[in-house]
Amino acid sequence: MKVIIRDNAKQGSLWAAHYIASKINEKAKVSDKPFVLGLCTGSTPIDTYAELIRMVKAGEVSFKNVISFNMDEYVGLPVDHPESYHSFMHRYLFDHIDEPAGNIHILDGNAPDTEAECAAYEQAIVDAGGFDLFLGGVGEDGHIAFNEPFSSLSSRTRVVTLTQDTREVNARFFDGDPEAVPAQALTVGVATVLSSKEVVILAFGSKKARALKDAIEGPMSHYCTLSGLQNHPAGTIVCDEASIGEVKVNSYRYFKAVEAAENR
Ligand code: GLP
Repeated sequence: MKVIIRDNAKQGSLWAAHYIASKINEKAKVSDKPFVLGLCTGSTPIDTYAELIRMVKAGEVSFKNVISFNMDEYVGLPVDHPESYHSFMHRYLFDHIDEPAGNIHILDGNAPDTEAECAAYEQAIVDAGGFDLFLGGVGEDGHIAFNEPFSSLSSRTRVVTLTQDTREVNARFFDGDPEAVPAQALTVGVATVLSSKEVVILAFGSKKARALKDAIEGPMSHYCTLSGLQNHPAGTIVCDEASIGEVKVNSYRYFKAVEAAENR
Protein backbone atom coordinates (compact mmCIF):
# COMPACT_ATOMS: atom_id res chain seq x y z
CA MET A 1 0.00 0.00 0.00
CA LYS A 2 1.18 3.48 -0.84
CA VAL A 3 0.24 6.49 1.26
CA ILE A 4 0.48 9.92 -0.34
CA ILE A 5 0.47 12.66 2.31
CA ARG A 6 -0.28 16.25 1.32
CA ASP A 7 -0.43 19.36 3.52
CA ASN A 8 -4.18 19.72 3.14
CA ALA A 9 -7.26 18.36 1.41
CA LYS A 10 -6.94 20.73 -1.54
CA GLN A 11 -3.43 19.53 -2.36
CA GLY A 12 -4.49 15.90 -1.98
CA SER A 13 -7.48 16.46 -4.26
CA LEU A 14 -5.32 18.01 -6.95
CA TRP A 15 -2.87 15.11 -6.73
CA ALA A 16 -5.71 12.62 -7.19
CA ALA A 17 -7.27 14.45 -10.15
CA HIS A 18 -3.94 14.71 -11.96
CA TYR A 19 -3.19 11.06 -11.23
CA ILE A 20 -6.55 9.86 -12.59
CA ALA A 21 -6.19 12.05 -15.69
CA SER A 22 -2.69 10.73 -16.30
CA LYS A 23 -3.95 7.14 -16.11
CA ILE A 24 -6.79 7.87 -18.58
CA ASN A 25 -4.34 9.56 -20.95
CA GLU A 26 -1.77 6.75 -20.65
CA LYS A 27 -4.31 4.10 -21.61
CA ALA A 28 -5.67 6.21 -24.48
CA LYS A 29 -2.15 6.39 -25.95
CA VAL A 30 -1.76 2.62 -26.20
CA SER A 31 -5.30 1.25 -26.56
CA ASP A 32 -8.73 1.98 -28.05
CA LYS A 33 -10.37 0.15 -25.19
CA PRO A 34 -12.35 2.30 -22.75
CA PHE A 35 -10.90 3.29 -19.41
CA VAL A 36 -13.13 1.74 -16.75
CA LEU A 37 -13.35 3.99 -13.71
CA GLY A 38 -15.03 3.42 -10.34
CA LEU A 39 -16.35 6.60 -8.73
CA CYS A 40 -17.53 7.66 -5.30
CA THR A 41 -19.70 10.32 -3.69
CA GLY A 42 -19.41 12.20 -0.40
CA SER A 43 -17.93 15.60 0.36
CA THR A 44 -14.39 14.25 -0.02
CA PRO A 45 -14.11 13.87 -3.83
CA ILE A 46 -15.73 17.21 -4.73
CA ASP A 47 -12.44 19.09 -5.20
CA THR A 48 -10.99 16.20 -7.20
CA TYR A 49 -14.03 16.31 -9.48
CA ALA A 50 -13.73 20.10 -9.79
CA GLU A 51 -10.14 19.74 -10.98
CA LEU A 52 -11.09 16.97 -13.43
CA ILE A 53 -13.80 19.26 -14.83
CA ARG A 54 -11.23 22.03 -15.24
CA MET A 55 -8.89 19.62 -17.00
CA VAL A 56 -11.62 18.42 -19.39
CA LYS A 57 -12.52 22.02 -20.23
CA ALA A 58 -8.86 22.86 -20.77
CA GLY A 59 -8.44 19.85 -23.10
CA GLU A 60 -5.99 18.14 -20.74
CA VAL A 61 -8.10 14.96 -20.47
CA SER A 62 -11.25 13.58 -22.05
CA PHE A 63 -13.89 11.22 -20.65
CA LYS A 64 -15.23 10.34 -24.14
CA ASN A 65 -13.77 6.85 -23.84
CA VAL A 66 -14.31 6.43 -20.10
CA ILE A 67 -16.93 4.04 -18.73
CA SER A 68 -17.78 4.73 -15.11
CA PHE A 69 -19.51 2.77 -12.38
CA ASN A 70 -20.45 4.44 -9.13
CA MET A 71 -19.99 2.64 -5.85
CA ASP A 72 -23.36 2.91 -4.25
CA GLU A 73 -26.83 4.42 -4.00
CA TYR A 74 -29.50 4.70 -1.32
CA VAL A 75 -32.46 2.34 -1.50
CA GLY A 76 -35.84 3.98 -2.04
CA LEU A 77 -34.65 7.57 -2.48
CA PRO A 78 -36.12 9.06 -5.68
CA VAL A 79 -33.45 9.43 -8.37
CA ASP A 80 -34.15 13.17 -8.63
CA HIS A 81 -33.90 13.72 -4.84
CA PRO A 82 -31.07 16.28 -4.39
CA GLU A 83 -29.20 13.88 -2.09
CA SER A 84 -29.47 10.79 -4.29
CA TYR A 85 -26.06 9.75 -5.53
CA HIS A 86 -27.45 10.09 -9.07
CA SER A 87 -28.12 13.79 -8.42
CA PHE A 88 -24.78 14.23 -6.67
CA MET A 89 -22.79 12.78 -9.54
CA HIS A 90 -24.53 14.85 -12.16
CA ARG A 91 -24.18 18.02 -10.08
CA TYR A 92 -20.49 17.62 -9.27
CA LEU A 93 -19.15 15.79 -12.33
CA PHE A 94 -21.21 14.35 -15.18
CA ASP A 95 -23.03 17.56 -16.17
CA HIS A 96 -19.67 19.25 -16.76
CA ILE A 97 -17.56 16.65 -18.60
CA ASP A 98 -17.69 14.88 -21.94
CA GLU A 99 -18.46 11.35 -20.71
CA PRO A 100 -21.24 9.94 -22.93
CA ALA A 101 -24.48 9.39 -20.98
CA GLY A 102 -24.51 5.73 -22.03
CA ASN A 103 -21.15 5.17 -20.33
CA ILE A 104 -22.42 6.27 -16.91
CA HIS A 105 -23.55 3.52 -14.53
CA ILE A 106 -25.10 4.08 -11.10
CA LEU A 107 -26.96 1.43 -9.13
CA ASP A 108 -30.74 1.84 -9.20
CA GLY A 109 -31.90 1.99 -5.59
CA ASN A 110 -35.51 1.88 -6.77
CA ALA A 111 -35.16 -1.29 -8.84
CA PRO A 112 -38.13 -3.62 -8.28
CA ASP A 113 -35.72 -6.53 -7.88
CA THR A 114 -32.64 -5.22 -6.09
CA GLU A 115 -30.85 -8.58 -6.14
CA ALA A 116 -31.19 -8.76 -9.92
CA GLU A 117 -30.02 -5.15 -10.15
CA CYS A 118 -26.86 -5.97 -8.16
CA ALA A 119 -26.12 -9.11 -10.19
CA ALA A 120 -26.58 -7.17 -13.45
CA TYR A 121 -24.21 -4.46 -12.16
CA GLU A 122 -21.45 -7.00 -11.46
CA GLN A 123 -21.99 -8.44 -14.94
CA ALA A 124 -21.88 -5.00 -16.57
CA ILE A 125 -18.50 -4.34 -14.89
CA VAL A 126 -17.16 -7.61 -16.30
CA ASP A 127 -18.63 -6.83 -19.74
CA ALA A 128 -16.89 -3.43 -19.70
CA GLY A 129 -13.56 -5.19 -19.15
CA GLY A 130 -13.15 -4.72 -15.37
CA PHE A 131 -11.97 -1.64 -13.51
CA ASP A 132 -8.74 0.12 -14.43
CA LEU A 133 -8.96 2.40 -11.42
CA PHE A 134 -11.41 2.71 -8.55
CA LEU A 135 -11.62 6.05 -6.74
CA GLY A 136 -13.13 5.80 -3.27
CA GLY A 137 -13.56 7.63 -0.01
CA VAL A 138 -13.85 6.24 3.49
CA GLY A 139 -16.42 6.54 6.25
CA GLU A 140 -15.42 7.58 9.77
CA ASP A 141 -15.66 3.92 10.84
CA GLY A 142 -13.46 2.77 7.97
CA HIS A 143 -16.22 1.68 5.60
CA ILE A 144 -15.51 1.67 1.90
CA ALA A 145 -18.48 2.37 -0.41
CA PHE A 146 -21.32 1.29 1.92
CA ASN A 147 -19.49 -1.79 3.21
CA GLU A 148 -20.16 -1.20 6.87
CA PRO A 149 -18.24 -2.98 9.65
CA PHE A 150 -18.76 -6.76 9.46
CA SER A 151 -19.15 -6.74 5.67
CA SER A 152 -17.21 -9.65 4.25
CA LEU A 153 -13.96 -8.64 2.61
CA SER A 154 -15.06 -10.96 -0.23
CA SER A 155 -18.42 -9.22 -0.62
CA ARG A 156 -19.84 -8.29 -4.02
CA THR A 157 -22.58 -5.88 -5.07
CA ARG A 158 -25.62 -6.27 -2.83
CA VAL A 159 -28.23 -4.64 -0.59
CA VAL A 160 -26.91 -3.51 2.81
CA THR A 161 -28.35 -2.03 5.99
CA LEU A 162 -26.60 1.15 7.10
CA THR A 163 -25.33 1.52 10.65
CA GLN A 164 -26.91 4.11 12.90
CA ASP A 165 -23.51 5.87 12.97
CA THR A 166 -23.46 6.23 9.19
CA ARG A 167 -27.03 7.54 9.16
CA GLU A 168 -26.07 10.09 11.82
CA VAL A 169 -22.95 11.18 9.91
CA ASN A 170 -24.94 11.48 6.66
CA ALA A 171 -27.83 13.30 8.39
CA ARG A 172 -26.02 16.55 7.54
CA PHE A 173 -27.30 16.11 3.98
CA PHE A 174 -30.88 15.47 5.19
CA ASP A 175 -31.62 18.56 7.34
CA GLY A 176 -29.79 16.97 10.26
CA ASP A 177 -32.35 14.16 10.62
CA PRO A 178 -30.81 10.64 10.77
CA GLU A 179 -34.27 9.12 10.28
CA ALA A 180 -34.52 10.86 6.91
CA VAL A 181 -31.37 9.03 5.73
CA PRO A 182 -32.48 5.83 3.97
CA ALA A 183 -31.84 2.76 6.14
CA GLN A 184 -30.55 0.67 3.25
CA ALA A 185 -28.33 1.05 0.24
CA LEU A 186 -27.06 -0.85 -2.76
CA THR A 187 -23.29 -1.02 -2.80
CA VAL A 188 -20.47 -2.65 -4.68
CA GLY A 189 -18.69 -5.12 -2.40
CA VAL A 190 -15.21 -4.89 -0.95
CA ALA A 191 -14.10 -7.53 -3.44
CA THR A 192 -15.68 -5.56 -6.30
CA VAL A 193 -13.53 -2.56 -5.41
CA LEU A 194 -10.45 -4.72 -4.91
CA SER A 195 -10.99 -6.37 -8.32
CA SER A 196 -9.82 -3.09 -9.86
CA LYS A 197 -6.30 -3.00 -11.28
CA GLU A 198 -5.70 0.00 -9.08
CA VAL A 199 -7.52 1.55 -6.11
CA VAL A 200 -7.13 5.18 -4.96
CA ILE A 201 -8.77 6.17 -1.69
CA LEU A 202 -9.18 9.79 -0.58
CA ALA A 203 -9.35 10.60 3.14
CA PHE A 204 -9.04 14.11 4.50
CA GLY A 205 -9.51 15.73 7.89
CA SER A 206 -9.12 14.55 11.47
CA LYS A 207 -12.50 12.75 11.43
CA LYS A 208 -10.91 10.13 9.17
CA ALA A 209 -7.79 9.65 11.34
CA ARG A 210 -9.06 6.59 13.23
CA ALA A 211 -10.23 4.92 10.00
CA LEU A 212 -6.80 5.44 8.42
CA LYS A 213 -4.94 4.17 11.47
CA ASP A 214 -7.07 0.99 11.48
CA ALA A 215 -6.85 0.52 7.70
CA ILE A 216 -3.09 1.11 7.46
CA GLU A 217 -1.68 -0.32 10.69
CA GLY A 218 -4.47 -2.49 12.02
CA PRO A 219 -5.04 -6.11 11.07
CA MET A 220 -6.99 -6.79 7.89
CA SER A 221 -10.47 -7.09 9.33
CA HIS A 222 -14.15 -6.87 8.41
CA TYR A 223 -14.41 -4.36 11.27
CA CYS A 224 -12.66 -1.77 9.08
CA THR A 225 -13.46 -2.73 5.51
CA LEU A 226 -10.90 -0.33 4.04
CA SER A 227 -8.26 -2.58 5.61
CA GLY A 228 -8.99 -5.01 2.73
CA LEU A 229 -6.79 -2.66 0.70
CA GLN A 230 -3.78 -4.20 2.47
CA ASN A 231 -4.26 -7.23 0.23
CA HIS A 232 -4.32 -5.23 -3.01
CA PRO A 233 -1.20 -5.04 -5.17
CA ALA A 234 -1.80 -1.42 -6.20
CA GLY A 235 -3.65 0.41 -3.44
CA THR A 236 -3.01 4.08 -2.68
CA ILE A 237 -4.41 6.22 0.10
CA VAL A 238 -4.28 9.96 -0.53
CA CYS A 239 -4.54 11.85 2.74
CA ASP A 240 -3.63 15.08 4.47
CA GLU A 241 -1.69 15.89 7.63
CA ALA A 242 -4.90 15.78 9.70
CA SER A 243 -6.19 12.40 8.51
CA ILE A 244 -2.78 10.68 8.80
CA GLY A 245 -2.32 12.08 12.31
CA GLU A 246 -3.01 8.87 14.25
CA VAL A 247 -0.48 6.55 12.61
CA LYS A 248 2.87 5.88 14.28
CA VAL A 249 5.59 8.45 13.66
CA ASN A 250 7.72 5.77 12.03
CA SER A 251 4.91 4.78 9.64
CA TYR A 252 4.47 8.44 8.69
CA ARG A 253 8.19 8.88 8.09
CA TYR A 254 8.33 5.76 5.96
CA PHE A 255 5.49 6.89 3.67
CA LYS A 256 7.21 10.25 3.23
CA ALA A 257 10.54 8.54 2.53
CA VAL A 258 9.01 6.26 -0.10
CA GLU A 259 7.49 9.22 -1.91
CA ALA A 260 10.71 11.21 -1.74
CA ALA A 261 12.65 8.25 -3.14
CA GLU A 262 10.21 7.84 -6.02
CA ASN A 263 10.43 11.53 -6.90
CA ARG A 264 14.20 11.59 -6.82
C1 GLP B 1 -20.75 7.55 2.41
C2 GLP B 1 -20.42 6.91 1.07
C3 GLP B 1 -18.95 6.56 1.01
C4 GLP B 1 -18.11 7.77 1.39
C5 GLP B 1 -18.45 8.19 2.80
C6 GLP B 1 -17.63 9.36 3.28
O1 GLP B 1 -20.86 6.60 3.42
N1 GLP B 1 -21.17 5.72 0.84
O2 GLP B 1 -18.63 6.12 -0.30
O3 GLP B 1 -16.75 7.44 1.29
O4 GLP B 1 -19.83 8.54 2.80
O5 GLP B 1 -18.24 10.57 2.96
P1 GLP B 1 -17.52 11.97 3.07
O6 GLP B 1 -16.60 12.06 1.90
O7 GLP B 1 -18.64 12.97 2.97
O8 GLP B 1 -16.81 12.01 4.35
